[in-house]
Amino acid sequence: MIEYGTYLLKGKKFTVEVDKNIEYQNKFIEKVKELNKGKSLTYSIITMGCQLNENDSEKICGMIEKMGYSRTDESKQADLAVMNTCCVRENAEDKLFGKLGELKKVKEEKGTIIAIGGCMMQEKHIQEKLRKSYPYFDIIFGTHTLHKFPEDLYNALKDKKRIEDVIDIDGEIYEGIPIKRDDNLKASVTIMYGCNNFCSYCIVPYVRGRERSRKPQNIIEEVKCLAAQGYKEITLLGQNVNSYNGGENYKFADLLRDVNKIDGIERIRFVSPHPKDFTDDVIKAIKECDKVCKIIHLPLQAGSTQVLKAMNRKYTKEQYLELAQRIKKEIPEIVFSTDIIVGFPGETEQDFEDTLDVVRKMNYEQVYMFIYSRRIGTPGDMMENQIPEEIKHIRFDRLKALVESQTNENGEKYVGTKQKVLVEGTSKNNEQMLTGRTETNKVVNFKGDSELVGKLVDVKILRNALWYLQGEIEAVQYLSTI
Ligand code: 5AD
Ligand code: SF4
Repeated sequence: MIEYGTYLLKGKKFTVEVDKNIEYQNKFIEKVKELNKGKSLTYSIITMGCQLNENDSEKICGMIEKMGYSRTDESKQADLAVMNTCCVRENAEDKLFGKLGELKKVKEEKGTIIAIGGCMMQEKHIQEKLRKSYPYFDIIFGTHTLHKFPEDLYNALKDKKRIEDVIDIDGEIYEGIPIKRDDNLKASVTIMYGCNNFCSYCIVPYVRGRERSRKPQNIIEEVKCLAAQGYKEITLLGQNVNSYNGGENYKFADLLRDVNKIDGIERIRFVSPHPKDFTDDVIKAIKECDKVCKIIHLPLQAGSTQVLKAMNRKYTKEQYLELAQRIKKEIPEIVFSTDIIVGFPGETEQDFEDTLDVVRKMNYEQVYMFIYSRRIGTPGDMMENQIPEEIKHIRFDRLKALVESQTNENGEKYVGTKQKVLVEGTSKNNEQMLTGRTETNKVVNFKGDSELVGKLVDVKILRNALWYLQGEIEAVQYLSTI
């Protein structure tokens, strides 16, 4: 079933696993190239949703570029327009249908191939809506058939017929899909796919299948390869990274420790862990691994034990706070970020006060706030005690005001301190201004030479401007050899 490919990169040898299915797809890559021979074709891609989807898009781009297409940012000019969709909240649907409306005329004039993939395509009612109201699409593919994009595109081009390639399975792992990364400093590495948790508001387990973990050696080889290419920051991705299962004696803490050993990588982040699975060995690994950033994204979702129970989150308000305390005791410098949903069915004023209470106690570095969105097929959608939109919005605004005041206060604490900043680039408006991030993911702007891009520098923080900090360079901490 499995084959290995060995190649050299900057004098170093890498052995990567290539699945037979991907070998098979490589044949279609060649066939598409043959069909398009002599043409100079472009593609565009729109990605909705989370970092996992962004990582999937990088794989879609990898396959498309291998087929000879070059990227354009303007879908109206592209020969192949791809949309990688998300269905976690309703607004993504509006975005997709709006974009498809725009593309109709473009397709009539130019014959653009329209391909739609990702989570939303796994939903039957969406497939039906597309067939009925947007029948001019060329390809739809789901989360389990992404790797087959070359075959789907070949069939769509050759037979000039509509391809629907969506299957509903627990899911597989396909190693060896080509990947075209968006950034050359920071990279995401998916360590596991799917979710077994079935939080009652969430559609993800229905569209991404059951949990499955990549083999440790494949992940480690990918990170080593990224390090050799000059990447400095790695984010390990999964719906529930702390249930990573790399074998009987190999869990998430072991993976953190092994990735921490890879030369060239400076920072390691991970999203998202589930509070219910946060074991002491993971806390210890975060503490002991110098490259693991001392910020933990710990999704709260709601502060009330009653709401958490209805959400099927499997922890109480007290257990969440205790966990944070336990982590803080081991790693005093740790800070937290979180996800919160407001307006889940049955959420009372008192329940919402519990959420505000946890936010005050946790003093988060960053909070991603969401208004509850009913998802067809989830238990939450079937609950009778839905919260009126107006109340949801009022609560959202109250939470936002609290979070903003906390962000501001937290920002003030940085003023006068020295921070290690990974320089990401120059400012859009001013070549002499650099922008980067602290270990805690705060944006810092400061004056400096563009040669510092990609390096870790010490920056003294001078001013807090709510969404970013302003600083002044102190010393170059690390000079890259690559
Ligand atoms: N409504 C609103 N927010 C949701 N999320 C997941 N499902 C929903 C939903 N139905 C949020 C959760 C999750 C984040 C990725 O999206 O907070 O952690
Ligand atoms: Fe959705 Fe819960 Fe799984 Fe996260 S853990 S993907 S919120 S079901």
